[in-house]
Amino acid sequence: MLIKRLEVKGFKSLKDVVWEPGPLTILIGPNGSGKTNILKTIELISSTGKGALEDTIQIFGGISSIFWDGTCRDIYIDFKINIGEYDYCSTPTYATYQININNSLFSSSYTLNHEKYTTYNEYNSKFSTLINKNSTTATIITEGTNKQIEINKQPSLNKETIVSRYRDRFDTDHEISALQYLLSTISIHYTIQITSSAKIRFPLITRHETNVHSDGQNLVNVLHTLYSENRDFENDINTAMRAAFGDDFDRLVFPPAADQLVQLRIRWKSLKREQSMLDLSDGTIRFLFLMTVLCNPDPPPLIAIDEPETGLHPSMFPIIAEYAAEASKRTQVIFSTHSPQFLDAFGEYNPTTTVTVWKDGETKIKNLDGDALKQWLEHYSLGTLFLSGDLEALA
Ligand SMILES: Nc1ncnc2c1ncn2[C@@H]1O[C@H](COP(=O)(O)OP(=O)(O)O)[C@@H](O)[C@H]1O
Ligand SMILES: [Mg+2]
Repeated sequence: MLIKRLEVKGFKSLKDVVWEPGPLTILIGPNGSGKTNILKTIELISSTGKGALEDTIQIFGGISSIFWDGTCRDIYIDFKINIGEYDYCSTPTYATYQININNSLFSSSYTLNHEKYTTYNEYNSKFSTLINKNSTTATIITEGTNKQIEINKQPSLNKETIVSRYRDRFDTDHEISALQYLLSTISIHYTIQITSSAKIRFPLITRHETNVHSDGQNLVNVLHTLYSENRDFENDINTAMRAAFGDDFDRLVFPPAADQLVQLRIRWKSLKREQSMLDLSDGTIRFLFLMTVLCNPDPPPLIAIDEPETGLHPSMFPIIAEYAAEASKRTQVIFSTHSPQFLDAFGEYNPTTTVTVWKDGETKIKNLDGDALKQWLEHYSLGTLFLSGDLEALA
């Protein structure tokens, strides 16, 4: 599990929230309550590892869209992550990483005026601050060396993080490299394009790929790589497809579409002709996409999917729940949904359940379980959530 705790102030509808996700977490709440904004916070964090903060802010609609109500001047993000469980960084147990993004008055730009990275080593109970940056200086501590940078000599450090600059690929043992790697490989998926003209439906230039891109469009390449090379993955996908579509499913095949081009076809026992991606229903493609992400034998450190139930028949929800619970033993899985039926399918796996509510112009969140969750869900399903004062107070 990567993220243990996340504190956000001033980002979009998240005026002031603290969130503690688990290995498997479902975010549930009505439309417009801020579920996607929580995933966007994780995406923003991930962009700080890639050196893509400026681009991501632009994609989110620019400066005035990202600050709460367009009037708030500071975004503060503080999160606590586990890095001890990852092989390439065996010593520290957890770390905290903080950034502060400031929007000066009358400016259409931003300043990254605070970045701090602290690790905590459980063996010797020692805290070490490895990066400490303010608007004038940055201090970076690596292996006992203490480097000071004056920000006015490197103004780009006001736009992108020091973590993203520290890319010593041969030194993945180092905690700064480890953080950079973990953040930049986080995987977040919003609704994927599957219209009849979407790239996902057409043959792709063959590439050895093992991770599905955020937009899902390289699905066929990833399926081809993993299905051909990993027997467990192949079995998992076949089992899931049979659970969803019955025993008529035979297997996936990848005949070359032309020189260098790979395509996906599904072989059904009752049909002579294998079906191509252009023949498949939207639901089948969405289901294959989810299974590919969840069955990945070597997944990214965190997988978040916005409304995975979109376009799927509820009979598929228990299959998704089962595979997500299995995946959450290898990575952190976060789903957002507005469907109580989808959440219900996870019952026996005991996910961390976070409810989101939009109240007084901001998102409020709370983890609920047991009776409190049952009570909340009853009102939520009936659409009477906002009429109940008691329940409003819960979130
Ligand atoms: N900069 C902002 N300040 C305040 N509220 C915002 C800002 N940007 C978006 N919102 C609000 O966030 C809500 C949308 O949140 P979203 O995460 O998309 O909801 P959902 O739960 O449906 O995924 C809307 O109510 C919108 O008004
Ligand atoms: Mg949403």
